[in-house]
Amino acid sequence: MYFLAISGSTRKLSTNTAMLRAMSRIAPSDHSISVFDRVGDLPVFSTDLEAVPLPDSVQRFTELICRCDGLIISSPEYVRAIPGGLKNALDWLVSRDEIINKPIALMHASHRGDDMLAQLRNVLSTVSSRFADELFLRFELMNKSPAEIDEHLALPKNHVAAADFVSRFAAYCGQ
Ligand SMILES: Cc1cc2nc3c(=O)[nH]c(=O)nc-3n(C[C@H](O)[C@H](O)[C@H](O)COP(=O)(O)O)c2cc1C
Repeated sequence: MYFLAISGSTRKLSTNTAMLRAMSRIAPSDHSISVFDRVGDLPVFSTDLEAVPLPDSVQRFTELICRCDGLIISSPEYVRAIPGGLKNALDWLVSRDEIINKPIALMHASHRGDDMLAQLRNVLSTVSSRFADELFLRFELMNKSPAEIDEHLALPKNHVAAADFVSRFAAYCGQ
């Protein structure tokens, strides 16, 4: 299976992005994960811009979504809500075919952020008929550097949990 892993953070040293990158290295060899950390490249959504041709960055984004077998999303909480950049990216997909039957699973890189997670679950179960709410993997990585995150996910217990999450999501995508 080929997964696209979308980070809701645009920070260079984002813990969510670093965790998704670490996941791409841990994924069992029959699966691959490509990390998308460019929600900040997308223009602010407007139905006026949904005409053909789409803005280039949106066109590329929708092609990535179309090509993947499943989406993994991991995001920080901003002001007890979904960060604007991620919500904007999801808004671009709402009236399009790519997302409707796309399997989606959530990860999270903090012990906090449950208000955002509740909102994201609500949004994702609205935009996709295949949001796998029961598949969720969380590591407590707030304020860790990318190198520390690699080390944390390499710990045997965490490595097993990460690989198991990917395998279970792949099985869900194959149903
Ligand atoms: C503008 C802003 C608002 C935030 N609001 C919250 C919040 O409401 N609740 C919370 O737990 N953390 C909040 N945080 C902290 C981030 O969620 C936290 O640092 C997260 O781990 C950052 O993820 P990242 O490393 O992937 O960028 C906020 C951070 C910023 C920059």
